Amino acid sequence: MKVYKLEVFYNDKHLGYLRLPFMPYGKFLGFKKDDNGDLKACFDMRIEQGYECYNFKGELELKVDESFSWPYEYMQGDGPSDWDVVTLGTYTIKLVYVDANEEDIFTLYNGVEVPRLGFGTWLVENDVAPEVVKTAINAGYIHLDSAQAYGNESGIQIAIKNSLFERKDLFITSKVQAEIKSYEEAKKSIDESLKKLGTDYIDLMLIHCPQPWREYSLKDGYRYEKENLEVWKAMCEAYKEGKLRSIGVSNFNIDDLKNIINNSDIKPMVNQIPIHLGNVWKELINYCREQNVMVESYSPLAHARLFSDEVKNNVYYKIYNELKAIPELKAFDDSLNAAQTYLSYASSYSDIILPKASSINHMLDNMKYLIKLDDAILLKMEDLFEKAIK
Ligand SMILES: NC(=O)c1ccc[n+]([C@@H]2O[C@H](COP(=O)([O-])OP(=O)(O)OC[C@H]3O[C@@H](n4cnc5c(N)ncnc54)[C@H](OP(=O)(O)O)[C@@H]3O)[C@@H](O)[C@H]2O)c1
Repeated sequence: MKVYKLEVFYNDKHLGYLRLPFMPYGKFLGFKKDDNGDLKACFDMRIEQGYECYNFKGELELKVDESFSWPYEYMQGDGPSDWDVVTLGTYTIKLVYVDANEEDIFTLYNGVEVPRLGFGTWLVENDVAPEVVKTAINAGYIHLDSAQAYGNESGIQIAIKNSLFERKDLFITSKVQAEIKSYEEAKKSIDESLKKLGTDYIDLMLIHCPQPWREYSLKDGYRYEKENLEVWKAMCEAYKEGKLRSIGVSNFNIDDLKNIINNSDIKPMVNQIPIHLGNVWKELINYCREQNVMVESYSPLAHARLFSDEVKNNVYYKIYNELKAIPELKAFDDSLNAAQTYLSYASSYSDIILPKASSINHMLDNMKYLIKLDDAILLKMEDLFEKAIK
């Protein structure tokens, strides 16, 4: 898989790539003084109203030098968020279409490559999906996580058509509704999803939940083993026909997974489960790893509960501040904000994260996270969390 990146040169010297595909909404290049009082240039991705926008589609080169000095006040805010402060000089920023590396993608056992960062679309209503999802795609989210139950597949079709990307550059997930538990209905629903999304193939199709939602939280409830095998059969057929490039499950526990693994010739390629601080199913994650089943984190921001005041006067912010204050935790990048820290946490336990955001600022924020935090930091966070909720 190839991905768009920004390659940055300083006086013809290659400085590196921005991991994120690009910033079509405009760029922000500002100056600030470093600790020694020297003037430095730095790049940020924030939208600043009224700034010139560049359409990076194609081979566009952008020369940047001192004449780009934006008002100094602009650098008084957050400071650089996506690129280190670099020496003032002449920069060339070039959009390149290069082979993805392990930081960008995870490869499923059937060889299909999945962009590590996906855009969650639960609660993105169909009427706003064309705009919200287009904004996300144009900001660089090339992986979209939808579902039949979200009711936004046709809105996503419009978003894709109006975006800067082509279908071939995108990775689209959908899910067979949790309430669909027969072969015939599942088969029909897959064709409907293809139609609504306006595509000949879906990159990843999941069984949304082992049980219909109304039974999901019932302890010792019926597990729908026979019925899930029926749905799986329909998905395997569509996979073999090329309608689905990969297939998997969501919210499946170890027994639910074993049911499919032991009774089908195709093993699920993915299990999409909730992962955030305070909610990590380590045993299940280990089982998935043993079985080569990719783990996707959904609700990595705990559905915004991480940011709500109701959460014990916000435990998560307290933990975040405590972490920042511990100098020995060197691997902890203190330029990460709270959301980015918790996304890094979810990413450390999974192969893919799927944050959802409505605003462009949240979308851009969530593109920056560390793929893997040190184990010591993960344990520290868990320890702080356990103590905080006692
Ligand atoms: N398979 C399943 O059963 C299942 C279940 C749940 C979710 N999912 C998938 O996972 C995706 C994400 O989960 P989720 O939607 O539950 O929630 P989430 O990603 O954990 O949190 C989304 C919420 O966090 C806010 N937010 C996003 N970025 C933020 C930031 N940088 N700072 C502060 N707040 C921020 C969003 O606000 P704004 O919207 O205002 O930006 C939104 O309210 C879903 O959209 C869906 O695709 C799957």
